[in-house]
Amino acid sequence: MKKILITGANAGIGLKTAEQFVNEGHHVILACRNMEKAQQARQLLQQQGKGQVDLIELDLNSLEKVNHSANQILSQYNHIDVLINNAGLISTHLARTEDGFEKHFGVNYLGHYLWTLKLLPLLKKAQQGRIIHLSSLAHWAGRIQPENFHADHHPAYHTFSSYGSSKLQNLLFSHVLAKQLQHSNVTSNAIHPGVVDSELYRQLPKLQYRVVSLALIPASKPAQLIKKMALDKSWAKKNGQYASVQTPALRSPKSKDMQLAQQLYDLSYDLIKQYL
Ligand SMILES: NC(=O)c1ccc[n+]([C@@H]2O[C@H](COP(=O)([O-])OP(=O)(O)OC[C@H]3O[C@@H](n4cnc5c(N)ncnc54)[C@H](OP(=O)(O)O)[C@@H]3O)[C@@H](O)[C@H]2O)c1
Repeated sequence: MKKILITGANAGIGLKTAEQFVNEGHHVILACRNMEKAQQARQLLQQQGKGQVDLIELDLNSLEKVNHSANQILSQYNHIDVLINNAGLISTHLARTEDGFEKHFGVNYLGHYLWTLKLLPLLKKAQQGRIIHLSSLAHWAGRIQPENFHADHHPAYHTFSSYGSSKLQNLLFSHVLAKQLQHSNVTSNAIHPGVVDSELYRQLPKLQYRVVSLALIPASKPAQLIKKMALDKSWAKKNGQYASVQTPALRSPKSKDMQLAQQLYDLSYDLIKQYL
């Protein structure tokens, strides 16, 4: 029985992934912003599966709150086998986190960055720890522009490139972690889950949503691959990989740039170091 922590697990891919584990009797911890939806998710999972389901409140919109939730995990559990950094959003307008960061950067990436660094000691205490980051094919549209990290300094906001940048950041973070952890018992890998029928696209204008909906696949598809990456022997030694559902796992040139990845890591560290 493995202990698996999933962010944003009250809906979409996170919930379907949790279902896979609970059905096999694993112990799943759902880290969610909306606790009402999280309670409903737990009820649903417990009706179907045999594994234990715990809830923890996590709002990635605030570094202070991420720190608080991570401290709770550190005091409640002695190890974590699998960490799935899944929570994410698309914002069609320029929005800011409680710390003043642009929302995609703050929620999709920086919050998870702090969360992961805080929880690494628990993954190291597992027999084999595995970290899985939900990136996206959209990372091809991403750029690393530190001047855009803060919402106030955003001259020309564009939803898709801003979301894509956060997914590039997820991927670069996964690669740096993989390098740092290469001689440890923990691996770090990323996935593009496909274009999935979930609540992610809820804010998109109707016409854009119609285009997206032509390619939609059910959340159970990526959930199966995530489960494999989390538990399968074939993934035990894979580290720094990028897997993909629906399309070939092609990484953009920027996502392979380890110097850029390290620069992003160092800049991010400065932004969160007060919580470590
Ligand atoms: N769907 C796709 O086609 C697709 C494609 C590529 C990559 N992805 C990635 O896959 C991941 C899951 O997406 P999904 O499609 O399952 O989307 P979803 O159905 O919208 O689920 C997103 C989850 O993230 C949570 N979340 C949002 N903001 C949060 C915050 N501030 N703090 C904590 N949790 C927060 C949501 O919680 P609430 O219920 O509280 O809002 C929800 O549980 C995302 O990282 C996304 O970028 C998705």
